[in-house]
Amino acid sequence: MPDPQETPFDRLGGASAVRTLCERFYDAMDRDEPALAKLHELDEQGRVSRRSRDRFALFLIGWLGGPQDYIAQNGHPRLRMRHARVPVDIAMRDAWMRAMTTAMDEVEVAPDLRAFLLGRLADVADFMRNQPG
Ligand code: HEM
Repeated sequence: MPDPQETPFDRLGGASAVRTLCERFYDAMDRDEPALAKLHELDEQGRVSRRSRDRFALFLIGWLGGPQDYIAQNGHPRLRMRHARVPVDIAMRDAWMRAMTTAMDEVEVAPDLRAFLLGRLADVADFMRNQPG
């Protein structure tokens, strides 16, 4: 029986596993979704910056039910507001979801957890849309 107290954070394997997932996510973005990657802060090699990767990883750790350091450091995520300067349309939303799906497949997230998390993330990604089309 799965432990009902266990969070998605626990099931994924804790902070280091979530950080690995985030690295795969941005690596997939750099490789497969250049238009989406370009909306981010890039480093000298043209890859999504360490700073951006670390901020999202800290957020995701908390969002999945782990330690709430992101909120302690940054306050409430206010994701829609933080994305207001980023033009998010259907194509960018779908590109974001493709990169996250690739990352989950690469780290072999269990199928039930994968379906649950991708469903929840699809709702958040759709909520970020701020451009017609
Ligand atoms: C739907 C398409 C999305 C696009 C195009 C997008 C794009 C971006 C960009 C350009 C940044 C700024 C990164 C930087 O500093 O360079 C950012 C930050 C961030 N995004 Fe997204 N994002 C999307 C969806 C999401 C979703 C679904 C989530 C949450 C599940 C999310 C969570 C975050 C967080 C936590 C940050 C860091 C905010 C901060 O602390 O400054 N984003 N995103």
